[in-house]
Amino acid sequence: MTLPVHTAEATPTPLRPGPTPARAHLLSDDTVEQYRRAVAAGTDRVARRIAEATGPFTGVRPDELAPQVEAIDLDRPLGDTTAALDELEDVYLRDAVWFHHPRYLAHLNCPVVIPALLGEAVLSAVNSSMDTWDQSAGGTLIERRLVEWTADRIGLGPAADGVFTSGGTQSNLHALLLAREEALAAATPADRRILLPQLRIIASAAGHFSVQKAAKLLGLAPDAVVVVETGPDRRMRPGAVRHEIARCRRAGLTVMAVVATAGTTDFGTIDPLDEIAEVCATAGVWLHVDAAYGCGLLVSPTRRHLLDGIERADSVTVDYHKSFFQPVSSSALVVRDRRTLRHATWHADYLNPARTVAQRIPNQVDKSLQTTRRFDALKLWLTLRVMGPDAVGELFDEVCDRAAQAWELVAADPRFEVLTRSQLSTVVFRWRPSGPGPDLTDAANLRAREALAASGLGVVAGTKVDGRQYLKFTVLNPATTVADVAYVLDLIAEHAGRYLHEHVPAADLTCPVG
Ligand SMILES: Cc1ncc(COP(=O)(O)O)c(C=O)c1O
Repeated sequence: MTLPVHTAEATPTPLRPGPTPARAHLLSDDTVEQYRRAVAAGTDRVARRIAEATGPFTGVRPDELAPQVEAIDLDRPLGDTTAALDELEDVYLRDAVWFHHPRYLAHLNCPVVIPALLGEAVLSAVNSSMDTWDQSAGGTLIERRLVEWTADRIGLGPAADGVFTSGGTQSNLHALLLAREEALAAATPADRRILLPQLRIIASAAGHFSVQKAAKLLGLAPDAVVVVETGPDRRMRPGAVRHEIARCRRAGLTVMAVVATAGTTDFGTIDPLDEIAEVCATAGVWLHVDAAYGCGLLVSPTRRHLLDGIERADSVTVDYHKSFFQPVSSSALVVRDRRTLRHATWHADYLNPARTVAQRIPNQVDKSLQTTRRFDALKLWLTLRVMGPDAVGELFDEVCDRAAQAWELVAADPRFEVLTRSQLSTVVFRWRPSGPGPDLTDAANLRAREALAASGLGVVAGTKVDGRQYLKFTVLNPATTVADVAYVLDLIAEHAGRYLHEHVPAADLTCPVG
């Protein structure tokens, strides 16, 4: 018997069932026009909102918006894209918090670059899943190239590898899982039970709270994270790290990792990486560098040197969705020694059978904590292919410059007190009236932040430093001007002053409103 030869022309057209209302919503060769129209309509709504936004927020309160969301009957579809978008305007778009707006100065959220949005549109429609080669093909290779590129920028050496993750929290968890397993590599199951509660992680008081969460998820002792106080510059002190490693060892404890931060969330400070790496190398301790925020310096034309020493890390967290201007999610964990990634490997016969390793089939699930996973790498790929790394670095340099100018502005303003100068793009400060006690000053700053957000004219963050309430600018938008910062400072002073006048008899006050 001879088998029929299938050519493009000879391939029989399968008989398909006729369209049904439900099938009309599935993306297929029959519905591409509808797909084009629906996505264009959605893009158009967002573009209009962005063009028309006069502030970063409307100031809507949860109790105002919640009833509108609650009132929607999810079992009664509108059946029509335009109607659904009209509804979406009311429950989401109108009151969204806009990170592209120059007076959004709060958290580590960046405006996003257009090539990355193009990537987002492509990746969600193709819907590749990055767990196995047979669900992604070229996507796997693109992700691997980007991990390699990132590791090269860090300088981790030829054995480096890594994987994209959902964010810095997951990257930190993943790094600490590898560190835990390396620390327990020689332990028998019985030893593990004894050793697990004795593991310690040394982290900075200015480090990210995801380290604490990771320790909990990894089954470590409640006091497993040894927090070392920072110096006055809000950077980890290498001497303190050395001291804590020695103290832990004297107490019979095992330090499984030191976590240094390249870009602390509040202060934008970078720990002395080279000196901490030296301490870790001498002690034989895994060094994880959380560069979720500071990773933008990897492409900075002028500030790359601030990361010197990062190349000595065992693992590095990189959040492209913070300082590479990428949409959420886009992050990676990169390690010096690819063999350590085996600690997250599990083979399933139905997905990534062990034989695929010998067959050299690149299955990213072998390195990831996730199974089904978005092709987030595509956003960074298109960003690099359209703009190039220098352009991304220039954007990050610009926000660092702007934050430095904002710091000068606040420092010169007698209404405010400002803390440590950031190496990146935050400014931590507070309104400081003369007269009222610290509790009232705390309350006035807190109230000013809330009132500012409620006005919709600006959004700033708040944090506590040494037990007192501070405010914070995180500048991640190159479009933010010094005039924007000055305007927001005036609004804060006005709100804080008003609060004080409402709560303190006029005779006790020595400061003017505003
Ligand atoms: C230093 C640092 N590490 C980790 C994280 C967590 O990153 P993600 O929010 O992407 O999980 C943050 C978030 O702000 C951060 O500032």
